[in-house]
Parts: sequence; C-alpha cells; structure tokens
Amino acid sequence: MIIDSGGGGLYNTQRTYRGLWREGKEGVQDIRVETPEGAYEVRIASGCLEELGRRARDVLRARQVCVVSDSRVAALYLERALASLEEAGFVPRSFLISPGEASKNGENFLILLGQMARWGFTRTDALVALGGGVVGDLAGFAAASYMRGIDLIQLPTTLLSCVDSAVGGKTAINLPEGKNLCGAFHQPVLVLCDPELLDSLPDEILREGCAEVIKYGMLGSTELLEGLGLRPIRGWLPEIIARCVGMKRDIVSRDLRDKGCRQLLNLGHSFGHAMETLSGYTLSHGRAVAMGLALITRASVNLGLCSREVFAILLELLKGYGLPAESGYGAAELARAALRDKKMDGDALQLVVPRSLGSAELLRVPAEELITWARSGTEP
Ligand SMILES: NC(=O)c1ccc[n+]([C@@H]2O[C@H](COP(=O)([O-])OP(=O)(O)OC[C@H]3O[C@@H](n4cnc5c(N)ncnc54)[C@H](O)[C@@H]3O)[C@@H](O)[C@H]2O)c1
Ligand SMILES: [Zn+2]
Repeated sequence: MIIDSGGGGLYNTQRTYRGLWREGKEGVQDIRVETPEGAYEVRIASGCLEELGRRARDVLRARQVCVVSDSRVAALYLERALASLEEAGFVPRSFLISPGEASKNGENFLILLGQMARWGFTRTDALVALGGGVVGDLAGFAAASYMRGIDLIQLPTTLLSCVDSAVGGKTAINLPEGKNLCGAFHQPVLVLCDPELLDSLPDEILREGCAEVIKYGMLGSTELLEGLGLRPIRGWLPEIIARCVGMKRDIVSRDLRDKGCRQLLNLGHSFGHAMETLSGYTLSHGRAVAMGLALITRASVNLGLCSREVFAILLELLKGYGLPAESGYGAAELARAALRDKKMDGDALQLVVPRSLGSAELLRVPAEELITWARSGTEP
C-alpha cells in the first residue's frame, strides 16, 4: 500500500491553507476539527488562557472542572486558569504531577481517578489539561476512562503539544514494559493554544517541538520548511501552530483511528522510537524524532527514492535548530528495536518515506527488509 502525502492531494500549502482557518481579529485563528466522534474548535490566540472559563461555558455542562498540570507549569499559569473557571461559575479543582515523562504512569492515573471520585465528579464534569504532552496524555486518558468518558479541554503549553499531542484524541500512559502501551482515543471538546504561554518555555524544549514542526514540513509543506530556514521561530509561532494543526486536522479527520493516512504523522518516528527505547528513555522525544527524520531521509536517498538535495536541506534545518542528526546506534540494534514497536502490522512495518521536499509515502516494509533501511539510513 502506498499513500502519498504530497503532490497537491492532501496538502498543497499555497492552494489549501489560506482557507483553512477563519481569521478573526488579528492573530486569532480558529481551526475546526470534524471527526465521526464529534467536532471541536482549536483556537490559536495570544492571551486565550484568560478565555478558558468563558469558552468552557460554551462547550461544557460541568459543575466541577479539574485542571490537571505539572508543578512547573502550575507555578506559572494555574492560578489564572482556576480564576477564569471560577469567574465563569465552575467549581475549580486542581491536580498536579511532577514534571517529566516518568509521571505519565498508572499510579498517577489511578490517584487522579480516585480524587475525582472523592470530589463527587459526575459524568458531566470535566478535566482541563494545562501542560505539555505528558499532562495532556495523562489527563486525556483519565477523561477517557472516568465513568467511561467525560469532557476534556486541552490547553497545551509546549510547542510539541500545540502542534501535535493536544489535537487528534490520542491519549496514553506508560507501563513499566513500554511507552504509551495503555491508552484510548478520546477527542477533546475544545483546544486552546495560547502562544504567549510558550514565552516561558526554555529554548531546549522549544527546539524539541521544532523537530515535530520540521516533520510537518517534510510531510506536506515546502512553505513551512522555507519559513523555518528564514525566520526566527519565536517570531511566528501562532502561524506555525496553525499550519501544523491544519495539517493534522486534515489527516485525522480522514483517518481517526490510525489505520491509514494518519500513519503519515509517524514520519521519523519508527526509528525515532527505536532510538528512544535504546536510550532507556533518556533521549527526549523531539531529539529522537530529529535523528529519525535524518535516518529515514538518508535511507530514502541511498535507496534511490529521494534526491540528495532533500537530505541536505533537512540537515541544514536540523543544524539550525540545534537538533542532532546522528544517533550513534548501529543498524542492527535500530532495526531490532523498531520491530518491537507496537505499530507493527503483522510481520511488516509501515514506514513513512520522504520522496521529495514536502512529500512522503507510506510503505509496507516486511520485517526482514527493515535492516536494509536501517543500514541505508546509517551509512553515508
Ligand atoms: N497524544 C499524542 O498524540 C502525542 C503526540 C506526541 C507526543 N505525545 C507525548 O507527549 C509527551 C511529550 O510532551 P512534551 O514534549 O510537551 O513534554 P512535557 O509535557 O514533559 O513538557 C516538557 C517540560 O516543559 C515544561 N513546560 C511545559 N510547558 C511549559 C511552559 N509553558 N513554560 C515552561 N516550562 C514548561 C514541563 O514542566 C516539562 O518539564 C510524551 O509523553 C509523548 O509521548 C503525545
Ligand atoms: Zn512525535
């Protein structure tokens, strides 16, 4: 099976994106995500944290609303979130975890559910995820599970969560046996992206989000790649977020459950996840995705599927954003780790392969051929 991401089909930036969002007052972009499980708005607007209570009123029937966050993000923004909810007439609650991937675990998940039960949360009460992907995934899975599903608002505070994890409804926790092994699809009822919240994000974490933005560019937008090469990223974050969310919306609305074209979003992730696993999760997701992008693009070039110029442009971008391109892992260990990934499809893996700048294809690669890809991606 080959699914093409480019060539003016799914996303031809120039043609399609102008009409993707309704531009209201300056800098405000609303992107509507329509899925078979319901529709929701992704609002990208500076200062929209202050609108949380008012906008929650429009989409929730809740009495109690619990803001889930990590202690670092909470110190910066929790008070404002709770005040806004209270002003809108909700009973505000909060639940905090320690920052970091290790908090996305079964123990915190159960403690949160127990706390909601003790507060007397009903089916119409709701959660707000205020934080990065860790908070979003944990709160999302709690919302998906409590009383078989309650409403969730995503309020992402990292670039990665704005462009990726807050939209599309994938939620998960990690098991001791592996990352994201337990989860559910649960769409939010609203996503509020406030780019001002990214001002406090350390450059290192912003850069990790850039790896996902570069992924979107490689997948379907030469315009985005050009912009990334020319303009300092902090200067146009709302636009970057809107472009990525628009692309993710297009893909997710066609394939909510990750059976077909949604797998294109895994560009750079098959070997990226392998690197994360091999590092014992000491390697950040963004840096792993950067190296995974470099590996698969180089493999595509060496196997004659993509021009060398595409690889050169990618390397230049990664370097510009302080992201690594070489993992140092060998082809055999990478292939082995990639084969253990949960995204295996029988005895084959769906690899997303760059074919030209801003265009990639989904290829079904039999398990025994994965080593060829790993070798081609790690050799000069
Ligand atoms: N559900 C999905 O579709 C999906 C997609 C991609 C990634 N993910 C998951 O997302 C997680 C990674 O998310 P992440 O990169 O956002 O990491 P994260 O949530 O761990 O946040 C990174 C760090 O930044 C801090 N931080 C967050 N916002 C801040 C702000 N505005 N100012 C200052 N500090 C801030 C946090 O406290 C944390 O220490 C992984 O668990 C990954 O599996 C999920
Ligand atoms: Zn990712």
